[in-house]
Amino acid sequence: MRGRYKGWTPSYIDAHPSFSPRSIDPSDPFYEGRLVLEIGSGKGGFLVKTAALHPEIHFLGLERDVSSCGSAVKKAVEAELPNIRISNLDFDEAYEALENLSFEEIHVHFPDPWPKRRHAKRRLVYPERLKKILSLLAPGGRLEFRTDNDDLYAYFLESYPLAGGRLVEEPYPSEEAMSEYEERFRSEGMAIHRAYLERM
Ligand SMILES: C[S@@+](CC[C@H](N)C(=O)[O-])C[C@H]1O[C@@H](n2cnc3c(N)ncnc32)[C@H](O)[C@@H]1O
Repeated sequence: MRGRYKGWTPSYIDAHPSFSPRSIDPSDPFYEGRLVLEIGSGKGGFLVKTAALHPEIHFLGLERDVSSCGSAVKKAVEAELPNIRISNLDFDEAYEALENLSFEEIHVHFPDPWPKRRHAKRRLVYPERLKKILSLLAPGGRLEFRTDNDDLYAYFLESYPLAGGRLVEEPYPSEEAMSEYEERFRSEGMAIHRAYLERM
């Protein structure tokens, strides 16, 4: 979902390549050790708060919208967090490089629902894409999915078995950090679905 275009963001991203590299180089020492991925980081609220809580883990966010990505990068820069990167990349575009990495957690929070059936292939949890996402999990790793959207949640419940996922009942590890969307939805009293997947 595209918000208002913020003209300052492309040059801000370019000025902070260590926080927001243009591409993912799997041989970069940043990607050694424990890794967490968020796909569709939006304005970065979840990722930046979680990275501040876990300096021992490296966090990579992907956000394809330049304005949202710029806002997220600004948060990471201002928090002076050396363990976070947020790249202005689409997941599909980044996948080839990501295949060389493995993540102990992957977060997909409040992805665009693409409600029209003819747009189902655009959903992050479309089975073929979800399968690719799950393939990036390290052994024992988990994907966390959050959404306010009942129809998208129903679609996710149909999609994950086709993608080779298995539902895990207990939260892992239960982080209460929230994204901008989640804070807004909760303040409006909306119910939030959360689900955790392992790779079969
Ligand atoms: C509805 S917003 C939610 C943002 C954030 N996760 C939150 O909860 O506040 C969904 C975001 O996912 C991004 N997005 C959607 N598909 C993506 C993809 N294939 N790769 C990277 N980002 C994507 C959109 O640009 C948008 O900023």
